[in-house]
Amino acid sequence: MTSLTSQIPLVSADEWYEFLEAVYAEDTRRREAETEEPLAVGAVGAVGDGALEAWLEVIGGYVREELAADGGEAARGLAPGETVLHQSMGLFGECDAGNSVHIDALLFPDPADALAVAAYYEYVCAHCRRADGVRAVHIISHSLSPAEITSIVAWLDGQWAALGLPDSGAHLVDVGSRFGAVVLGAVRGLSHRGIEGIGVEANAYFAGLAGRTAARYGLADAARFVEARAESEAGLAELSSASIAVFNNVFQFFVPRDDQPEVWETVSSALKPGTLVLSHPSLELVLGELGWSPERLAEWVRPVGVINGSDGDDDDDEAEMTRMYAYVVC
Ligand SMILES: C[S@@+](CC[C@H](N)C(=O)[O-])C[C@H]1O[C@@H](n2cnc3c(N)ncnc32)[C@H](O)[C@@H]1O
Repeated sequence: MTSLTSQIPLVSADEWYEFLEAVYAEDTRRREAETEEPLAVGAVGAVGDGALEAWLEVIGGYVREELAADGGEAARGLAPGETVLHQSMGLFGECDAGNSVHIDALLFPDPADALAVAAYYEYVCAHCRRADGVRAVHIISHSLSPAEITSIVAWLDGQWAALGLPDSGAHLVDVGSRFGAVVLGAVRGLSHRGIEGIGVEANAYFAGLAGRTAARYGLADAARFVEARAESEAGLAELSSASIAVFNNVFQFFVPRDDQPEVWETVSSALKPGTLVLSHPSLELVLGELGWSPERLAEWVRPVGVINGSDGDDDDDEAEMTRMYAYVVC
């Protein structure tokens, strides 16, 4: 993927999204032309880190095209008719429609990095195109990127035995699975672990799209997607069978903040002891902000690691990656 940093024009948010879409469509066509065997379609099988990341980029390209064809907002990664909530307080309470742009890291993995250092991001007013007197915008992604999913899969593989995960029959449940890429990446990259992936997703369009994607890429036997709210009976049934439960910013932009304490209450009590919980942001932050004391959190889970943790050096590539905090349910 060409770096976009030097090409970033001084444009409005809508023009910027259009620009990204055009660059990515070109890249998808180039990738298809260069790949003799379809890189993407194939039986479940363990793949190396590089191949898994490349494969997830192909999944992102497929999803972009499907979203566009189905009348979604491919540029922002939104389903047809989907609305995203901006909470007025709590985590991300400072983000509103005027100071935030949504760029999905599965659909646009490279610009998410480029934006962090881009002149557009740091200095440019979308309206007057001047650099003075403006604030930085918040870049919001509702997906993990191919690189982030790959590093989670690699971490799980490396920690598997130490975490006491089963030799076969492990269930990975992505709570709020959106495009399904976490589930698909896990079953593709961890097939030698005999893993089953389950996405629980409240948005009917996304649950359907993820199921179609699994079928298209030969993963329908290993991955399934349930249209359900996590806190519903159907959602809780999946959670109660989880060996690994993933929570990536799941409720913050989708569930009114006043409802979040009860949702967490219900969801947390469904997970059985020994379940590995991966969360971003940390549970200390998410649940602390909702009123859980450190003692209460310690009664539920114990921390076991951080994925994509860095040594604090800002130049470190890992510092750019979403950190996932790992816990085991007590
Ligand atoms: C930030 S996205 C996470 C996407 C994906 N897990 C990832 O990490 O790339 C959160 C998703 O959770 C879904 N969601 C929000 N509240 C939910 C709930 N109560 N039950 C199930 N899904 C929910 C949203 O529709 C959205 O697709």
